[in-house]
Amino acid sequence: MSYTVGVFVGSLASDSINRKLAKALFKLAPPELKLIDIPIGNLPLYNRDFDADYPPEGRAFKEAVAAVDALIFVTPEYNRSIPGVLKNAIDWGSRPWGTNSFAKKPSAVTGTSRGQISTAVAQQHLRSILSFVNSPEMAQPEAYVHFTENMIDDDGYVADQHTVDFLRNWLQEFHVFVVKVVGAQRITL
Ligand code: FNR
Repeated sequence: MSYTVGVFVGSLASDSINRKLAKALFKLAPPELKLIDIPIGNLPLYNRDFDADYPPEGRAFKEAVAAVDALIFVTPEYNRSIPGVLKNAIDWGSRPWGTNSFAKKPSAVTGTSRGQISTAVAQQHLRSILSFVNSPEMAQPEAYVHFTENMIDDDGYVADQHTVDFLRNWLQEFHVFVVKVVGAQRITL
């Protein structure tokens, strides 16, 4: 059985290292996980005036989230948190009240930076947000990816085997987690 996984990249930069990491995940995912990019860059800045009548971009975003079985977030760290553009997307998906698109969707978080703690603080902030929007999160393994020069090319090709093995294992563990969470949700009480 296969599962669709929406992938959110928290960077809009044209040469984003997190986009490179996301591309690597697309290449390394097991066949049971069908990764789908969910763009966030076209969303206006959320404000609750939109709740009465969501614009097409907001509706399309919520529909894209609703259509997938699971979620992967690939985020940079900005000032020890997640970039505003990613928080903005999560706010769009979580509203209008009572229509939270993330509820019960299993998620995993990762991210890369050249810094020594490699997005660890941003990922913790993101986990806190995902808890609130009721997304069951894979606790382990964590994936703090320390980006080094030429580690991943523009097409998502990963140069060193250790990183390939690490990312492949992380994705396989996420597959196991998704099977467990989605399977449990099929139990009707
Ligand atoms: C950064 N950067 C950064 N890096 C980090 O490890 N911890 C941090 O808190 C920050 N803070 C931060 C704030 C802002 C506004 C910028 C622009 C950058 C550096 C960051 O990791 C680097 O720019 C990455 O290349 C960003 O990821 P993308 O956009 O290349 O995917």
